[in-house]
Amino acid sequence: MKQQLELLRAEALRAVEKAGAMEELENVRVRFLGKKGELTAMLKMMGQLSPEERPAMGQLANEARAAMEKAIEAAKAKLEEAALERKLERESLDVTVPGQPVRLGHRHPMYIALDEIKDIFVGMGFTVLDGPEVELAELNFDRLNAGEGHPSRDWSDTFYFKEDSSVMLRSQTSPMQVRAMDTLPLPIRMIAPGRVYRKDEVDATHSPMFHQVEGMVIDKNVTMADLKGTLNTVVEQLYGKGTKTRFRPHHFPFTEPSCELDVQCHKCGGKGCPTCKGEGWIELLGAGMIHPHVLEMAGIDPEEWSGWAFGFGLERTAMRRFKIADLRLIFENDVRFLEQF
Ligand code: DAH
Repeated sequence: MKQQLELLRAEALRAVEKAGAMEELENVRVRFLGKKGELTAMLKMMGQLSPEERPAMGQLANEARAAMEKAIEAAKAKLEEAALERKLERESLDVTVPGQPVRLGHRHPMYIALDEIKDIFVGMGFTVLDGPEVELAELNFDRLNAGEGHPSRDWSDTFYFKEDSSVMLRSQTSPMQVRAMDTLPLPIRMIAPGRVYRKDEVDATHSPMFHQVEGMVIDKNVTMADLKGTLNTVVEQLYGKGTKTRFRPHHFPFTEPSCELDVQCHKCGGKGCPTCKGEGWIELLGAGMIHPHVLEMAGIDPEEWSGWAFGFGLERTAMRRFKIADLRLIFENDVRFLEQF
């Protein structure tokens, strides 16, 4: 038995030495030291020895096991080190190689213009609201005084979701006036920028999706003079001090009186040129005093409260701000174009 043990020990140590990978090493361990291993089998046979022989054999067997375990541990450490060495070799990196330039993006010119606009209004105490693009026709039209039969409700102009024309892509940000009246405490000063949708063909000045910025003030003793003063201040901040404006009468169903605001052409200073189509003025926005019936429909007493509102196209404002000639450039997102701002 002693001889057998020594043979087994020598064989195990040779096998350990030969094992070139973790897996093989584990196989060696199982083969000799595992539950059904060869050394374990031999230990089980010790029971057959005489009581005198047993202690010496036991000691030998323990030594054999210790030697095997030690050899396996050592081999394992060696393999691990070699693996780490290979990994480091593979992943070595040269910190002196120049880095790849990172291409940083930046904000879209239209959003640069919007941020300027927001800053101006927030500075005057306005809140910035966000609202749904999928809107109820009730809020987009009825609550804004454009009842059944109003031409702007036509199927040829509006993206409806349902046969009964009750749900639509909002065609203007004006329903945000209604949402503000329904949810905010009075007095209200808010702007609401966002996307709007109309069935327009794409050309240099039209797109079926564009952005508007709505604005509204409701307070006591608010007059058309406040509207004009506020909007003149905004125009001067956007386009420079001394920029001339003019207010023209117009019609919107939800304001009375209604007006449009023009700015004097920045290109020709009012003489008339291709940019302003010979007019000397460029239309900027629609506005007016909120119709008493619109206030009433929101449960606001028009005897006590009054207000004004406005709405303008954001693309057109950004185009004028950055002197961009074609609306399509705003949406195409050609990096060569966008990088100029
Ligand atoms: N919603 C109008 C449009 O899309 C613009 C507008 C006009 C908004 C007058 C207003 C307003 O708030 O008072 O043409």
